[in-house]
Amino acid sequence: MTSAKRVSDVGTLAGRRIVLGVTGGIAAYKAVEIASRLKKKGADVRVIMTRAAVSFVTPLTFREITGHPVTTTMWGEPHHHVEHIALAEFAELFLIAPATANFIAKAAAGIADDMLTTSILATRAALYIAPAMNTGMWENPVTQENVQRLTERGVQIIPPAVGQLACGTTGAGRLPEPEEIVAIVERHFSHEQSLAGRRILITAAGTEEALDPVRYLGNRSTGRMGFAVAAEAARRGAEVVLIAGPTPLVTPAGVRRVNVRSARDMYAAVLAEYDAVDAAIKAAAVADYRPAEIADHKIKKSDGELTLTLTRNPDILYELGQKKRHQVLVGFAAETQNVEEYARGKLAKKNLDFIVANNVAEKDAGFGVLTNHVQIFYADGRAEDHPLMPKSELAGVILDRLEELLKSSTKPALLAGKGDHA
Ligand code: CTP
Repeated sequence: MTSAKRVSDVGTLAGRRIVLGVTGGIAAYKAVEIASRLKKKGADVRVIMTRAAVSFVTPLTFREITGHPVTTTMWGEPHHHVEHIALAEFAELFLIAPATANFIAKAAAGIADDMLTTSILATRAALYIAPAMNTGMWENPVTQENVQRLTERGVQIIPPAVGQLACGTTGAGRLPEPEEIVAIVERHFSHEQSLAGRRILITAAGTEEALDPVRYLGNRSTGRMGFAVAAEAARRGAEVVLIAGPTPLVTPAGVRRVNVRSARDMYAAVLAEYDAVDAAIKAAAVADYRPAEIADHKIKKSDGELTLTLTRNPDILYELGQKKRHQVLVGFAAETQNVEEYARGKLAKKNLDFIVANNVAEKDAGFGVLTNHVQIFYADGRAEDHPLMPKSELAGVILDRLEELLKSSTKPALLAGKGDHA
């Protein structure tokens, strides 16, 4: 390694205040390498271990690596005054790796019965959780529900990798490599305010097309991808307006949300914002058709078949492509076959700058999962293949590409029309 490389490596996390939480799983040994890598990149690392974690790795190991006492109990000799508050306030970022199913359950429920859970309840810092456990525990609906609840509150989940587990089985549940986890932490700090002064419109979730007062036609989009992009754009300093179809997801911090139901509602809301934005990212799954008539009363069943007549909805993204001036325009393509052909067709027809295409028939991509597997196609003909990754990480990739395009576009919409002194 050259000295120049070492200097730039150190810079990425220089002075960053990171609290590493280690819970009691076999992967706790990997946390040692995580602490070491964070420290080498210049971070000021403090470690909190749960009681079970101490059975796997000694606090002394972390103490030697970080140069700081390790917190293992609420009741020991305090290193700080009111220590859980001290570490909660100290941290810019909490990273829990590995996180057991038990820790995740407690965090989701707001239980604070040890130093780690108490500290994360008290902190306002960013929270990254890297679960590691047996596949059965990971896939158990209660764990999945807990993960979902945490995600909805803005917690970043680093999804476990698939591979051979300590219990002898193969499946999802392995802690990702320390290098990958540290790269996610670096990315968190590397884009601070890189979208300051930019206004970005994002659409998310599916639309609902009413049939009668109690029924609608919908789709399986949950809105996770669009919400992840909105959260990341806000974190990078953009002014974000998120136009969302019905979804229980919680609005990310710093985001202005406009709720809509049907494609036509979304069309109106999007057009009202479009002129004033620098970029529009259309992650919503918009219904192409709606019932031609909405019955005033609940449709009653009869013995025969029921035929519905559907009528075309506006193609919102196509309209944006037609009206495009300074805006960078990004679309998504949800396909189940011929991904490249269909995605490139939409890219051209809708006059986009790039399109993020995924095969929603794949197990770990598309609707209702935390990960996505995409290809990105650009107006200039370029194409990129991305590996399977968390939606939160993909949001970062999409915004990196957007930032490159924004650099070559005109002045930020926030400054437009505010006079020359701006
Ligand atoms: N889109 C839109 N308005 C519509 C339909 C789609 O704005 N009425 C947008 C989506 O938000 C997405 C892109 O267009 O960014 C592609 O959506 P997709 O459903 O994949 O494709 P469609 O254009 O609807 O084409 P098809 O249903 O034939 O695949």
